[in-house]
Amino acid sequence: MGIPVHDVLIVGGGGAGLRAAIAIGEEFPDLSIGVVSKVYPMRSHTVSAEGGAAGVIKPNDSLDDHCYDTISGADWLADQDAVEAFVNEAPKELIQLEHWGCPWSREPDGSVAVRPFGGMKIRRTWFAADKTGFHMLHALFQTSLRYKPVVRYDEFFVTKLLVNDGRCQGVTAIEIRTGEVHAIGGKSVILCTGGAGRIFPFTTNAAIKNGDGMALAYRAGVPLKDMEFVQYHPTGLPGTGILITEAARGEGGVLLNKDGYRYLQDYELGEALPLDSPDHPRLRAMELGPRDRLSQAFVKEQERGRTIQGKYGDYVHLDLRHLGQKKIDKQIPFVRDTAKNYIGIDPVYEPIPVRPVVHYMMGGVDTDIDGATSLPGLFAAGECACVSINGANRLGSNSLTELLVFGRRAARVAAGFAIENPAVDEDAIRKQAAEEEERIRSCFLERTGGSETIADIRTDLNTTLDKGAGIYRNEGALKETCATVLELKKRFGEIQLTDRTRTFNTELQNALELEFMLDAGEALAFSAVARTESRGSHQRTDHPERNDEDFLKHSLAYRTDGEPRIDYKDVVITRWPPGERVYGKR
Ligand code: FUM
Repeated sequence: MGIPVHDVLIVGGGGAGLRAAIAIGEEFPDLSIGVVSKVYPMRSHTVSAEGGAAGVIKPNDSLDDHCYDTISGADWLADQDAVEAFVNEAPKELIQLEHWGCPWSREPDGSVAVRPFGGMKIRRTWFAADKTGFHMLHALFQTSLRYKPVVRYDEFFVTKLLVNDGRCQGVTAIEIRTGEVHAIGGKSVILCTGGAGRIFPFTTNAAIKNGDGMALAYRAGVPLKDMEFVQYHPTGLPGTGILITEAARGEGGVLLNKDGYRYLQDYELGEALPLDSPDHPRLRAMELGPRDRLSQAFVKEQERGRTIQGKYGDYVHLDLRHLGQKKIDKQIPFVRDTAKNYIGIDPVYEPIPVRPVVHYMMGGVDTDIDGATSLPGLFAAGECACVSINGANRLGSNSLTELLVFGRRAARVAAGFAIENPAVDEDAIRKQAAEEEERIRSCFLERTGGSETIADIRTDLNTTLDKGAGIYRNEGALKETCATVLELKKRFGEIQLTDRTRTFNTELQNALELEFMLDAGEALAFSAVARTESRGSHQRTDHPERNDEDFLKHSLAYRTDGEPRIDYKDVVITRWPPGERVYGKR
C-alpha cells in the first residue's frame, strides 16, 4: 500500500509551522504540504505568548538600532548576517500579519502601537494587548485554511526522522487517537516543534515543550547549536511558573525587594528615568534591562537576603499599582486576570509575587540563515532551530517575529529543495517506519520487568538540570549534571509502562517525549561544561569573564553512543565588532 508523500512536510503546527505552510501555499501553489502536529494547531505553545513581536515601524527607530540591540543583547554570539535578514524582514511580516487579521493595538492616531520591551533601547514591540501569541496564531491558522494543498495531521506524534540515501525523506508518526504508526513521506521536512523548557522543573513552557524537534535532528546526526544558553524570564508566578509578561514592566511596572526598594538600580542597569521623558528619547534600562541580567540580579538579591521567602521559594514583587486600573485593563488585562485567577491577587491593589523562570532555549538545531541543516532535505525554524539571531541571550519579543521571518525563509528553500529532489524511496522509508513501530512495541508497549517509571526519571532530569545548569553554574555542579544525565539515559532503558493499549496512550507518548528530553538535556549539560567563560545567560562562577579569544564561537553538540562530542564554529560578524554590553548609558 502506498504511503502519503508530500512535497514539503512540516512538523509542528504552531507559529513557525503555519507561517511556513502559508508561504508554500502562496508562493508554490502546486506543491502539496503536510503539517503534522501533536496537538491541534490552536493549542500550540505560540498561543501563550503575551507581550509582543518586535519590528521597526516608527520614525525614531532604525533597522540598525534593532540590529545593534539584538546583537549586544545576545552578548555578540548572534550571527550578524542572520540578524540583519531578520530585522529587515520583520516589519513586512508584521504588516502582513495585520492583513491576515491580527488585531495589533493602536495609538490614539490610529497607527500601530509599540511598547518598550527588555533590552530594546527604543519602543518597537508590536502587541495585541497582552494576548499577542493568541491573536497571531489565530490569524495564521485561519489563513492556513485558505490553502487547499495543506493536509493536516492533527494529534500525530512524530517519533523519528526517516533518512534514506543521505537525505531526510519523511517521518514516522503515531496517530494518537488510534495508536497506529504511520510513515509520512516528505521530499523535504521542516522541523517547527518549539522549545524544550520542560526539561527544567520550573518553566513557563506548556507540557508539550519537550525538545522533540531538537532530539529528532540530533538523532539523525545534525548537531545542536548553543544549547548551553537557557533563558530565565524574570517574572514567573511562584509555584506554577505561569508567565507575567514583560509588557507589565514595559507599561511601567517596577520590581521591589522585601524592603520595597527598587533593587535593580544597584545592578548597572541604568537609571530610573521616566520612559516618556522628551529629554530621553532612548529608553533607560532598569526593569527594561535584558532578561539574563535581571534574572542574575534576582539571585544576587537573594544572596543578600533581600528577597521574600514564600511557600514556593523566594520571590520579589512586581508592582503595577501606580499604573491604575484603567491602564492595566486596557494594556495588560491578561496580567490582571492571571494574577487574580492563579494567586488570588488583584494587581490594581497589590503587588504580584514573581521569580525567574525557565522560558526559552536560545540553542537548537543548527541551521543556516535559510533554515537548512547539515542533513540534506531537513530544515528547522522557530524556537527548535538555532539560526542564530539570539546568541547568548534573546531579547523579549524577538521570538514571535523570528518564527514568522524564518518560518517563511525555511519554507521557500525547503520548497526549492523538494522541486529539485522529487524522488522519495517509499519502500525504504516504509521499512524504516516498520522498524520504528517494532521498537515502540518491544521497548515500550510489550516490555515487562522494567524497574523505572517515567515520573522518577523526569523528576531526576529536572532536578539535576536545575541544580547544575541554572542561572549560575560551575564546573563541579555541571560535571555532576552530565554524569547524572548519562545515568538517566541508562535508567531509561529500564522503563516500564502500565498502559499497553493503543488508543490515546498518553503514557507511551510521555515516555517517548522523555527520551527526547534526555537528549536535549544531555546536549545542554555537556555544551555548558565545555564553555569555560561567562556570556549572556551562561554564567560560570568559576569563569566569570567573557572570553572572546576562545569562545566567540557557537558550540555544536553531536550525538554519539556515549558522551556527546562538542565542537565549535565561528560566529558571523558583519558590521558590529564585539563590545561591552552597556545598559542605560547609551
Ligand atoms: O514577557 C513576555 O511577554 C515574553 C515575550 C517573549 O518571550 O518574547
